[in-house]
Amino acid sequence: MEKDVVLLAIESSCDETAAAVVKNGREVLSNVIYSQIALHTEFGGVVPEIASRKHIEKINQVIEQALSAAGRSLADLDGIAVTYGPGLVGALLVGVSEAKAISFAAGLPLIGVHHIEGHICANYIENKDLEPPFVCLVASGGHSHLVVVRDYGKYEIIGRTRDDAAGEAFDKVARAIGLGYPGGPKIDKLSREGNPDAIAFPRAKVAENEYDFSFSGLKSAVLNYINGCEMKGEEFSRADIAASFQKAVIDVLVEHSIHAVKAYGFSKFAIAGGVASNSSLRETFSERCEREGIAFYHPSPIFCTDNAAMIGAAGYYEFLRGVRSGYDLNAVPGLKLGER
Ligand code: KG4
Ligand code: ZN
Repeated sequence: MEKDVVLLAIESSCDETAAAVVKNGREVLSNVIYSQIALHTEFGGVVPEIASRKHIEKINQVIEQALSAAGRSLADLDGIAVTYGPGLVGALLVGVSEAKAISFAAGLPLIGVHHIEGHICANYIENKDLEPPFVCLVASGGHSHLVVVRDYGKYEIIGRTRDDAAGEAFDKVARAIGLGYPGGPKIDKLSREGNPDAIAFPRAKVAENEYDFSFSGLKSAVLNYINGCEMKGEEFSRADIAASFQKAVIDVLVEHSIHAVKAYGFSKFAIAGGVASNSSLRETFSERCEREGIAFYHPSPIFCTDNAAMIGAAGYYEFLRGVRSGYDLNAVPGLKLGER
């Protein structure tokens, strides 16, 4: 029996201040998230300066809560995992500085983790049997990536968005129909009252790469539809717009993903990122994968949106591979997946 590895994980790349204690990468002993959403709502999106300040205010408290809920002290830990990119530089810096300070004070190894790797590894938490290789769709506010997970820590991005990320499109369309920030969960809810086939919005294909995404045309089509109705003095149903838009996004995500799983000859597929908590997306993938004989994996919604447990999961596999960061670890806002 190998010795257990217990990590404290810290995440502060955007508007969630989060800390978790994770054992052997898959057992979450605690998962504390302070969401700043309410603070940013009145501005219609995340204000970086406000996010950084709130992280500073909350981070110690969140870490203390995570340790106490896990019944661990710093002396019981084997390392500290922290998101160091991509994300908002000021926000990332708070987590990175905090992790470096604790690592130095407690003499614990430091492991810098890629935020997207964290999202992917969220799948390991509740799916104890899931092991690479598999294909993972990462759809968040900042990214829409189709990733081939060759092995732990070995990623190949085969598709990405050419313009807006899927979550960004949800947020922008939500704003256009007056739902406010963050748009994803609100569109998800309103869609249940609408007809997904009411309006024929476009499903964009990117000529040069069959796995790439483009959502800006869809967003413009929604805005044009609303303008058109307003100019003609016609009423429009916000629920039908939400449902039809959502279906257009999901159709593209599903088609590209299933195509990739088959083309690469895998039998396992996973989803990750904030958009992966969308109820209709989960149902659609679940049905489609079942029909295609593909094993479908997904984290619970709480592990889809930003959290630190996923950073603890990713950090564990990096730790096993011998990855250790120095005290020169810095926030890297544009960090690429697979880069160090
Ligand atoms: O992964 P995440 O929490 O943060 C980033 O790393 O970006 O993703 C946030 C994004 C936001 O754009 C939000 O609107 C979207 O995920 N989102 C959703 C849902 N919940 C969150 N999109 C669609 N349906 C949802 N239920
Ligand atoms: Zn994220």
